[in-house]
Formats: sequence, C-alpha cells, structure tokens
Amino acid sequence: MKRRSFLAAGGAAGLAATISGLAPTAPALAGLARPAAKDAKDGGATGPGSLRSLAARIGLHVGTAVIPFDLNTPDYAAILASQFSCVTPGNAMKWGSVEPVQGQFDWSDADALVSFAERHGQLVRGHTLLWHNQLPGWLTTGVANGTISSAQLWSLLEQHIFTEVGRYRGRIWQWDVANEFFTDSNPSMLNPADFWISNLGPTVIPQAFRWARQADPHALLFYNDYNIAGEDGTNAKSDAAYAWLRQMLDQGVPIDGVGNQGHLDTQFGFPTQLQQDLHRFTGLGLRTAITEADVRTFVNNATDQVPTDALAQFAQPYEFDQMMKACLEVPGCISFTVWGFGDADSWVPGFFAGEGYVTLYDVNLSPKPAYFALQQDLQLAASGAPRRVRTMR
Ligand code: XIL
Repeated sequence: MKRRSFLAAGGAAGLAATISGLAPTAPALAGLARPAAKDAKDGGATGPGSLRSLAARIGLHVGTAVIPFDLNTPDYAAILASQFSCVTPGNAMKWGSVEPVQGQFDWSDADALVSFAERHGQLVRGHTLLWHNQLPGWLTTGVANGTISSAQLWSLLEQHIFTEVGRYRGRIWQWDVANEFFTDSNPSMLNPADFWISNLGPTVIPQAFRWARQADPHALLFYNDYNIAGEDGTNAKSDAAYAWLRQMLDQGVPIDGVGNQGHLDTQFGFPTQLQQDLHRFTGLGLRTAITEADVRTFVNNATDQVPTDALAQFAQPYEFDQMMKACLEVPGCISFTVWGFGDADSWVPGFFAGEGYVTLYDVNLSPKPAYFALQQDLQLAASGAPRRVRTMR
C-alpha cells in the first residue's frame, strides 16, 4: 500500500509504507503488559494502556498532527483514534490551505479532521492564524507588488481570523494564534524582517489575539514557537519570548498559553532548560504545551529510515521521554502533541537532508521504543510508584 507523506508536503513525498502486521519490538519495560499480537498496530494498547487513556488519568491530552488524507487509511485511523485524545491539522488550517484563491475557501480537509475528532472524543488544536509561512500566493504577491496596501492587509487579516475562528467557534480547544515570531539570534527579538511585522508592525500580534478572542471567547489562545527551551545554548530566545509575553499580559492582551514546538535532533542533545522554561511560563499565569514534538536523527535512506548511528536508537526515545517528563513535572503543561506519529509521514526527511526516524511509529506503523517510553512515563504518572514494603528488618 502506498501512502502519501502527509506532513512533508513538497518534501520527501510518496514514501511507501507497507502495513506489515509485524509485532512491535518493545524494549523491556517493567510493569507494562506486553502487547498482544492482535493489536500490535496500536502498540497493543487500545484499552487502558493506550497513551490517551493513561494520560486522561492525570488530565493530560496526548495529541498528534494529522492530514485528513490519512483518515482514509484504516490502520492509520485506528491508531489515531485509540492512542490520541487531541489532533492538530498539520497544514489544513493554514491560510494558504483554506483560501488558496482570494475569496474562495476550501474547508474540506479542516472540516474532515474536526469531524473525525468529534466522532472519536478528541479535542482540536487549531494551527495557525498568524505565521509568515504557507500564506496564499495571492496575498504575498499582492503585498509585494503593492496591489494590497497595508490598510487592506489589516482588514484581510481581520477577515481571515474572524472567518476561520468563527467557523469552528466552540469546537477548537487551543488555537495557535501566532507562530514563530522570534529571531534565533542572541539576544533574540521579534523578527523585524517577519512578513507581518515588516508590513504591519509588531502590534499585529496582540491585535490577532484580540480578534481571535472575540471570534471564539472559549478557545485557549496560544503563542507557539521553537527553540524556546534553551536549545540555542543560552536560553536567549526563551528569555525574549518570556519578556514579551509578560509585557503582553501586562497590557491585557488575551494570551492563554505558550506552545513549545519541541522539534529536536539527537545531534544537539536534549535542551536541559525545558522543564524550567515551561515552569516559568506557567508562572506568568499561562498554560503551556508541547505542540509539535519529534526527534530526528541521521538515517540510511528516507524509505527505511534506519538510524546510521546505532546509539541513535537510544537517544531518540530518550529525548521523547525527557520531553514528556518535563511536561509531566509542570502541572500547567496541558497537552503533549507529536508532529505526526509514523516515520513514513513525517515532514523531516523532506526538510532536513539525511534525517528521519523522527516519530513514535516506524515506516510500517509499528510502535518504536519512543512509543513505549512515553507509554511507560504515562503509566508511572497515572498510577505512581507503589510504596516500598518491609524497609526494616
Ligand atoms: C510543516 C508541515 O508539517 C509541512 O507539511 C509543511 O510543508 C511545512 O510546515 N513548525 C510549524 C509547522 O509550526 O506548521 C510546520 O509544519 C513545522 C514547523
């Protein structure tokens, strides 16, 4: 069976994934039931051992990015429904997807995903309203050639937010209102060269939050970014985001949360500030979430995705495990979302040359050690370690 590489639009398209029916290769994890062969595809955990049901016991939601194309693949849909309690459209709610031609909307993919979620008792993270990427060509071209003035751009943005947020009003749990506005420099700052900031100035971000709040007063409104957990070595980007968020909250801007994307790479090691940074964001009264977790490493090729360094098979699940633990340690971390759950579907091979092995399931949709690491973390979080017995002679 051929499956489209969904999160890698334009990237390593068309990676083949054969549904093999092989039993998962679980590492030895004490205390977890071994998956039975019959439900190998979902990690042997459709019931009380699934990620979503373990997480539910501590009020955490485990999510994944999806494109609706894959909802028609039964094995894929079965894992999605059984393991995850939250979904994010990988591309389907981006402006370029919903309004490819000015005034002509295509909600088909976004609608399909929202309705799948509702049928399966899942929440939805809307992604994303204000971002410099994946904008419609008519918009960027019009701005570049001067046929869209800045006054018109303001009003197009307002319309976009009211139309999209309004369409799904009451059905979206968290909206990524603004995405990736800080520079990767030290010190970091709001990027003056960003499409929105260079055209409309930095007040575009708080304005987007205000419009989103009006359009759906019940959705949690998030600022979302990558490398805001010390991945830059200095925590400069996190510091800049923190200072800006504090300033925005002081000004009464309706921001409810900050999302840490969590795109990691085994060659750089684990960002040890993650837990502290999540914690200090919640100290501002914000919720926090891991919104796009994946851990890439170098692989033999984009089809089989076997790590070239044998130790990566340990480093990859380790980094997932550490990310989950950081979230678990912070009560305000309300969801943990992976950016796709099958290696054949990841955006990474198309965007990072030579890298892959990035998700929880292999190219045949069998669960990998990273899946079992998260399952074990959630198991322990849900039940706690039992108290020691007979500690005295
Ligand atoms: C990626 C998608 O997965 C790809 O299919 C698309 O071609 C590019 O965007 N940060 C984000 C996501 O906030 O929206 C990006 O998703 C990955 C990086």
